[in-house]
Amino acid sequence: MNELQHLAIIMDGNGRWAKKNNLPRTAGHYKGVEVVRNITIHANQLGIKCLTVYAFSTENWKRSEDEVSYLMGLPKVFFNSYIKELMENNVKVMMIGDKTKLPSETQRIMNDAIETTKNNTGLILNFAVNYGGRDEIIRAAKAYAEDYKAGKTDELTEDLFKDYLYTKDLPEVDLLIRTSYEQRISNFLLYQIAYSEFIFTETLWPDFSPEELDRCIEEYNHRKRNFGGRNETKSN
Ligand code: FPP
Repeated sequence: MNELQHLAIIMDGNGRWAKKNNLPRTAGHYKGVEVVRNITIHANQLGIKCLTVYAFSTENWKRSEDEVSYLMGLPKVFFNSYIKELMENNVKVMMIGDKTKLPSETQRIMNDAIETTKNNTGLILNFAVNYGGRDEIIRAAKAYAEDYKAGKTDELTEDLFKDYLYTKDLPEVDLLIRTSYEQRISNFLLYQIAYSEFIFTETLWPDFSPEELDRCIEEYNHRKRNFGGRNETKSN
């Protein structure tokens, strides 16, 4: 069995869920917020160290102004409803992505939640907001180059480069789940998923349940991970 320390999720299908239920797209996102809560509580109970959820990508700015504005309001909806419960469950909130481009109110809400939960030692609930994998790698490369020029760092190695990524304090991503059966990575955690297992599930995010997470973990536990070495169970 491979201990699952870091679970990453691309929460896709909110729009399709809304359409299926004859509701506006925003209703799908709203329902999706509650599912983030349910999966967070469950993942914490399972002893998972870190849950990274893709809440808003650097490409999501291309959506309509109304939808972008609605999505930017979701952290407020989430934390107003659940911050107390997150504290009771010892959950620590973190964020990856370029915070500076977010509306100031969204920044304030995220910062408050991060500050309030900073001493918690349970699951890390890590929101990827205005996050792009390529953007993260470019930023890391630039920051390394600056340090190198200033004589503050050594020759670049994989281990050293990790320290320049947003995820520097987080464990490797063990499992990446994408809902709604789109089989793409969409610029999510490009560097961090080098050896991750992938599960693409048909369920739309607003219908994703703790029971389905259990089934995904069951499947993950049956996968053989060899990190590029020889898989001893193969016959050839
Ligand atoms: C993708 O579905 C989903 C998003 C772009 C937003 C995901 C955000 C949440 C689930 C809520 C996050 C919660 C907080 C607290 C920030 P889609 O709209 O692309 O769905 P579609 O492909 O079916 O149209």
